This record gives sequence, C-alpha cells and structure tokens, in this order.
Amino acid sequence: SSMLVWQRTAFHFQPEKNWMNVNIAKTHATGPLFYNDWYHFFYQYNPIGAVWGNIVWGHAVSKDLINWFHLPLAMVADQWYDKDGVWTGSATILPDGKVVMLYTGSTAEAVQVQNLAYPANLSDPLLIKWVKYEGNPVLVPPPGIHKKDFRDPTTAWMTSEGKWRITIGSKINKTGISLVYDTKDFINYEMLPGVLHSVPGTGMWECVDFFPVSITGKKGLDTSVNGPEVKHVVKVSLDDDRHDYYAIGTYHEINGSWIPDEPEIDLGIGIRYDYGIFYASKTFYDQNKNRRILWGWIGETDSEVVDMEKGWASLQAIPRTILFDNKTGTNLLQWPVEETDNLRLNNTEFNKVSVETGSVVPLDVGPASQLDIIAEFDVDEEALKKANEVHVPFSCKTSGGAAERGALGPFGLLVLADESLSEQTPVYFYIAKGSDGKLNTFLCNDLSRSSKASDVDKQIFGNYVPVLEGEKLSLRILEDCSSNKYEARDAKFKFWKPLVSTALAATMIVFGGETSSMAELNKFEAEARGEFGIGSAAQFGSADLK
Ligand code: FRU
Repeated sequence: SSMLVWQRTAFHFQPEKNWMNVNIAKTHATGPLFYNDWYHFFYQYNPIGAVWGNIVWGHAVSKDLINWFHLPLAMVADQWYDKDGVWTGSATILPDGKVVMLYTGSTAEAVQVQNLAYPANLSDPLLIKWVKYEGNPVLVPPPGIHKKDFRDPTTAWMTSEGKWRITIGSKINKTGISLVYDTKDFINYEMLPGVLHSVPGTGMWECVDFFPVSITGKKGLDTSVNGPEVKHVVKVSLDDDRHDYYAIGTYHEINGSWIPDEPEIDLGIGIRYDYGIFYASKTFYDQNKNRRILWGWIGETDSEVVDMEKGWASLQAIPRTILFDNKTGTNLLQWPVEETDNLRLNNTEFNKVSVETGSVVPLDVGPASQLDIIAEFDVDEEALKKANEVHVPFSCKTSGGAAERGALGPFGLLVLADESLSEQTPVYFYIAKGSDGKLNTFLCNDLSRSSKASDVDKQIFGNYVPVLEGEKLSLRILEDCSSNKYEARDAKFKFWKPLVSTALAATMIVFGGETSSMAELNKFEAEARGEFGIGSAAQFGSADLK
C-alpha cells in the first residue's frame, strides 16, 4: 500500500524547524545582503508556533546562496516598539562599509513603526549580534496613514544631493501607495510631499522594492546607480491577492516619483515575477558578482493541521539573477543563480525525442529525487498551422489542465511522477490563438494530480509568456524533494522565460542524482566549520520520512 512521505527540501532554503504560518507564512527575505564574503539571509520566523505570529528575525549565512548555515536569531521582539513583531526590513551598506538595517516593528499597541538596527561588531563576518538604536522608533505613521498600513522600508539609495532615500508601502482607501523619505543619518527623516507611485484598487503594498536596471541588460546595478542607461523597477506584494507584481519605468529624482513606461501594465495590474506561488520577494545587489538577485518566498499548500504535525511549512525559492530584457523592453529576465549548476552530479541526455500526439514518453534518469531539467521543444510547422485554425480561448487557470487536449498543447514534462502516473505534476506549454488573431504561448503547471493527499491545494498555475520571432521554447525545471506525496514528491520548480520553436522533437538534458546536494554540502560544511567553528550544519539533504 502507498506510504505518505514528508520530505524536507534538499536545495531550497528552509529553517531548521519551520514553525511557519500557512496563510501568510513567513520565511521571506528580510534584508538579504552580501557582506564580508558571506551572503546573509534574515527572515520572518515564528519560533514557537505553526501559525503566523511571534515574528522575529531568523538568520542564516551562505557562501553560495544554496547551502546555508543556521545562526542564532538576529533580533527578537524585546522592545515596546517591536513587541508585536520584528517585521520586514532592508539592509543598506554605506560607502564606509557600515551596515544599517531598517525594519518595521509592530508596537505593543500594534502600530507599525520603522526602527533602526546595526551589527554590534562589524569585524564579525557572520554579523551574529544586532543592536537596536536607542532612539527607536525613527518613523511613525504620518497623518492620514492608518497605523496598520505603514511597513517594510526598502534599502536606501543615494540622491545626487548626497542624501539617502527610502520608500515605504502603504495605502489610502483602496489605493496602494509608497511614501518617500530622505535622511542623512537614518535617524532623522524628511517626508517628501508626493509619493513614489500610487495605483487605485491595488490595496496595501507590502514589501515594496525599488531598484535600477541597466538597459543594455548586461549586469546588475547597485541600488543608488542612476543615469541615461538606466531604468527603474518597482515591485509590490499585494496583500489582497498575495502576488508579486513589478513594472519598469522612469524615476524622477527631483520629487522622488516613478512613472511606469506602460500605464496599461502598471504596478499590480500588469506583470508578475512568477505565476506560481511566490510572494514577499526582495532583491539585493551582490557586489561580489555584480548581479542583482531576486529572492521570493513559497508558501506550501498543506493544511494547517498537516503543517503542525510535520513541524514546518514554507520555504524560499531558488535565488534568481535578474536583468532587464532589452529584447521585449517590457520584461525582466530571470534565471536561477549560476551556483545552482554546481549541484549537478551527473547528466543524462535525450536527443530528438519525438513526441507524437497523445503520447507520453518515459525518460529514464534513474532513481533521482532531485533534478535539474533543461528541455527544448521544436514545434511542428503543420501543428502550428492547425493551431492557427482553431479559435478556442485559452488560459492555464480556466482550462481543464494538462488532461485536456487542444490544437497545440499541452506538451511538456510530467515531473515528480511515480511509475504508474498516479501522482504527477505536469509543466507544459500550450499554444493557442488569442483574441488578437495571433498565436500565444502559455506556460502552465497543473497541480491537480500532484498528490493523492486530499488536503493539499491543487491549483493550475501559469500565464501567457512573450515569445519572440525565432526564439526556441525551452524550459528549466528545478525539482526538489518536499512535502506530502504518496507515490511521488511535491514539485518546487519555477519557470523561466521560454524561448520559441518549429517541429515536434525535444532535446532534454537531465541532471540528476539521489544525493546531488549532499555531496556538495559535506564538503562545504567541513570548510566552514574549520574556518569559523560554527556548531550547527545546514539541514539540507536530510530527509524526514514518516
Ligand atoms: C509580508 C508581510 C510584511 C510584514 C511581514 C510580517 O508578508 O506581511 O508586510 O512586514 O510580512 O511578518
């Protein structure tokens, strides 16, 4: 008979004991930064319960953004101004190397205020101890802003006058807004009369992010960089629909405002970073590799009861390198940080696999529970012509999922499938004619048969993806072990911008291996222990079987 398997992720970040909330569960990035040769990750953590609450700052460090060492809590709720929670914040590295952290405290009376903290000892590369500024809070909700709508300060950037500038999300009635403040010392602030931006109907803006991108799309930029070769991105996490939206536009330093390039795809009504489960993301500039890294949080979809039983819930997505897509001009490009490639132990290549209509072709990669899949599809010209003759409106969410066959789709991969396909998670393309008379490409992810467990949320995710003339349709899938499956395992993959096609054959490279992250980890662990004598090793790769 089938056995229920709960397995922790092998290469996605999870706290050691993940007592996390399921509704608005928190492991999300709170001021990630690269400092003194370590990547630091601070996250929203509930040390004592399976529901959201008691939020303090968890802390972990890494050399490669994949293998993490858990450190003691960085900050706990020990002051009147953060008694109700040490909430989201952001780090700023000053030109002299000092680090300042601004974060939201929910006070004993549940008022959202901004507080200042800094590392006790800058010569400690692990930044273990944090000191809260004695004059906290440094900012309280301004007139007209509700006491519970003032949170998540950004990393500061510098104005040409030499002042630091930050933005903080809020709302007025149903209009999402972001307030702007200037400061010289992170203690005294001056509020700008206007807002960075506002969008009616979008509700509270959480975890606002603001950063420059180079229009040549070649490398990431530090947050203060500005100039003619630069556009600015704003990201908001919409509390009302729990998704992360971004838009690209122009920043006007003079009044601290930002205007989207295309008003019809403005913030919160246009493009999302991800069309799966992905929320409360942040970016930071990695001065080590001159890249901007986007890191989002994935809420798991087990029931609260199950989460409490297993003792953890939710995890971080794989960090992504992001750049401006100078081909579309409207999108960002994202892909897993290159360090992810180091997890590959062996690979199996399948060339020119022909996938006939209605067929499922098994690909034997051996007994791997973690995979890094790269697949490229060539779509048959005849099939494209046929698709052009069919007018059935399509959307991933409202379609019948991977089981419903259309003119040209679904085609893709059934990941995390057991041999009998009783559990499977299809990741697939679907090409359909849009109302504009053009063929549209969709990338979807159908969870409806992903687990035999009944108390798991099993949506169909996905969206239209822009495909340019001459591009190939390609996929990168990172398959980790996790969650409750009877036969197979849960998928924690994310999709990347696919590239287009002609013909119906697929080339697939599959990197796999039962222990791909463990081997790396052991080596890494030995190194780090020798260097710093840290006691606790990262948990990754250890499977909890029940
Ligand atoms: C985002 C968020 C933030 C807040 C924090 C509290 O999910 O609600 O707005 O600072 O989490 O944990």
